Amino acid sequence: MRIRSEIIGCGSYLPERVMSNAELSTMIDTTDEWIVGRTGIKQRHLAADGELTSDLALKAAERAIAHAGISAAEVDLLILATTTPDNTFPATATKVQTKLGMTNGAAFDIQAVCSGFVYGLAVADNFIKAGQAKTVVLIGAETFSRILDWEDRSTCVLFGDGAGAVVLRAGEKIPDASPGEVGHNRGRGVLSTHLHSDGATNDLLYVDGGPSSTQTVGHVRMDGKGVFRHAVANLASIVIETLEANGLAPEDIDWLVPHQANKRILDSTARKLGLPNDKVVVTVDRHANTSAASIPLALDEAVRDGRIKQGDLILMEAMGGGLTWGAGLVRW
Ligand code: UT7
Repeated sequence: MRIRSEIIGCGSYLPERVMSNAELSTMIDTTDEWIVGRTGIKQRHLAADGELTSDLALKAAERAIAHAGISAAEVDLLILATTTPDNTFPATATKVQTKLGMTNGAAFDIQAVCSGFVYGLAVADNFIKAGQAKTVVLIGAETFSRILDWEDRSTCVLFGDGAGAVVLRAGEKIPDASPGEVGHNRGRGVLSTHLHSDGATNDLLYVDGGPSSTQTVGHVRMDGKGVFRHAVANLASIVIETLEANGLAPEDIDWLVPHQANKRILDSTARKLGLPNDKVVVTVDRHANTSAASIPLALDEAVRDGRIKQGDLILMEAMGGGLTWGAGLVRW
């Protein structure tokens, strides 16, 4: 017998302030036409002065807990995926834990940049399967605007701030089944997660600071074309790996909920899967790239507007600095 992790609630939060491409073009040498044409981004949300990653994370987590209809006291693990923690330490997750009123268990941050949410999904799922946690709050939250070089037009136009969260809970015990067996990919919950990284590509996307190297926070540096090339190849391969592991075909997928970096990358993955565009949840036009927050933000939007329904098969995938990449397949 084995346990499935079921997603029983979701929530998200975007800071109030919206910065349009037109506003950006008054600050740096760029245009709305260039940004929309190359990325699909029209605007991004930015955290207010004094509004921290923990504040965004808390609001998303509160909404996810309310949606799940549980109390914070029932949560025994809180995982926060972020690249922009409030401080080098303690883990921002511990601040959120206390503000939520979570009194049991443990809280920690994980760092896989834009892949943070799928990494977190794998960690949460494995804690639940191992019997070490029963109710997990998984949050992706970022104030990426704080690590941007606002004079570097090749990066500062791409990112935004926000947070999204899900609540996972141990479901009923179900009989063991291996790929190919009838029923192995039926039932609710996380069907599988798949993670990869390749440190040989560190230089394509990184922050030029840190506590041990410069004792400064640093700014995002990116070889955009290099990242783009890897994204298209790695995301196609992770999607195939996930489908094969579950004995499924692309047409079995009801919704692709991808990390939102660039509309052209989303289109390329959908094309490779043969998925029509209306099966892809897209928020990059309004949120820009919110790193670890982008998947749970998109998921929450599609659940709340009624697109994602119980029983739907959802494929989430992401790639980010490291490079890291991964995917998770979930039956809603
Ligand atoms: O979450 C994962 C992390 N990131 C990604 O997945 C991003 C992956 N990469 C990309 O999305 C794309 O590579 C970008 C959108 C970043 C850039 O698009 P590109 O088509 O690869 O453009 P490029 O970097 O080759 O730049 C083309 C031109 C350059 O001018 P020249 O050298 O051709 O004269 C740039 O200087 O566009 C110029 N440029 C800009 N022009 C106006 C770069 N940024 C801007 C800008 N506005 N903001």
